[in-house]
Amino acid sequence: MAEASKQAQAAPRGVAVRCRAATAVSGVLHSGRRLEEALDYQGLGRSDRALLRELATGTVRWAIRLRTVLDDLLDRPLPRRETEVEALLLVGLYQLAHTNIPPYAAVSATVGALSKSKAWARRLINGVLRRFGREPGQRLAAADARSVGVANAHPEWLVIALEAAYPDAWQGVLDANNQAPPLTLRVVGDRAAYLAELAAAGIEAQAHPLVETAVNLKSFRPVASLPGFPEGRASVQDAAAQLAAPLMETRSGERVLDACTAPGGKLAHLLSQTPDLHVTALDPDSDRLDRTRETLERTGLAPEALLRGDAARPQTWWDGVPFDRILIDAPCSGSGVIRRHPDIKHLRRPEDVGPMEDRQQALLEGLWPILRPGGKLLYVTCSVLPEENGERVAALQQAHPEARAEPLPQQWGRPAGPGCQILPGEAGTDGFYYARLRKETP
Ligand SMILES: C[S@@+](CC[C@H](N)C(=O)[O-])C[C@H]1O[C@@H](n2cnc3c(N)ncnc32)[C@H](O)[C@@H]1O
Repeated sequence: MAEASKQAQAAPRGVAVRCRAATAVSGVLHSGRRLEEALDYQGLGRSDRALLRELATGTVRWAIRLRTVLDDLLDRPLPRRETEVEALLLVGLYQLAHTNIPPYAAVSATVGALSKSKAWARRLINGVLRRFGREPGQRLAAADARSVGVANAHPEWLVIALEAAYPDAWQGVLDANNQAPPLTLRVVGDRAAYLAELAAAGIEAQAHPLVETAVNLKSFRPVASLPGFPEGRASVQDAAAQLAAPLMETRSGERVLDACTAPGGKLAHLLSQTPDLHVTALDPDSDRLDRTRETLERTGLAPEALLRGDAARPQTWWDGVPFDRILIDAPCSGSGVIRRHPDIKHLRRPEDVGPMEDRQQALLEGLWPILRPGGKLLYVTCSVLPEENGERVAALQQAHPEARAEPLPQQWGRPAGPGCQILPGEAGTDGFYYARLRKETP
């Protein structure tokens, strides 16, 4: 997007933000990049960063619907190479359909993001956005009539999968996936005292009603400036993710394996929850392990060993002493965290799920033998697809009759195979799956 970037350097701030938003949107839609990686905040002040984040995230969240609206507005399809123009059109439509930005400001800042030498595209964007602005309701309704996927801005394969899995709740899942998520913190120590600290700093926040370590902030803010964040008294973690450590039921002195540890959110929770745990933490991804080290450094916590390795192949890293507790926070489709990562709608393909299931099964099968008799294994994903969740755990149980599912607290989620499925939006959380297995003594 070189032309737009040059334009952005010389342009007023609002224009530069539209330009960067379009670059990020195009990165996701056309180059398969993760939104977090595609966003460039460099040199922007706080309010511009917030606007960039809102425009790019919102456009990616609604892109499937907005693309249909756009197709209807165009007299003929855009040439395929005009990815920059398409992204700007989508950013423009997002502003008109989903924000309170005055339409004239949205249109002029979006048109301004293109270089003057691209006069045809500036005319096109101007014309399309103004046409949409004359009858936004009718334009959106016409697109919504096409399909459930378009109306809810989800890929059709995922809609079909959710309808099959949750005949009574799929629409709620789609709605929750399209909400902006809260910024949730996990607080170490006295939550009421921390809430008072936030209030004294003028930061509005609420205790989570069901998760006793969780606090929801009223609005987004740079986390590094939050009280206690630099020294690890607060960490960013969704409330449903904060259930993992308590469900591990760890006791001092136990040997614990955190099999898929990076970036270390649940590891830090485990270490702060129980003193004197002997934790081995493992991940194959060195960049993500670096992020785990940062988490540990900030929180002042340390596992006994932090290893780079494949948890499914213990023969390559295990010292031969069985574990009392094993946490498998498995790699998955991320279909439970779409509200936080709307790029998943575009990046994940139905054909990704089968290989993911194989990896999950390999982790369960590889690690079950190194759990001691009487020990417990907690299987977690941030997926809502039964084939990554209950079906995987049930398959392990079929091969290992000594794997007994333990009941989980009933205030959470719905029974799903041997475990429990929390759907996105339930009690304001992300979607997570939990199953806890105890190894019966022979
Ligand atoms: C859902 S994330 C874990 C999140 C982490 N537990 C936390 O709370 O911050 C899944 C992790 O599994 C790791 N992973 C993928 N394949 C693995 C394998 N074969 N063995 C161990 N970890 C694996 C990924 O690199 C990724 O970091």
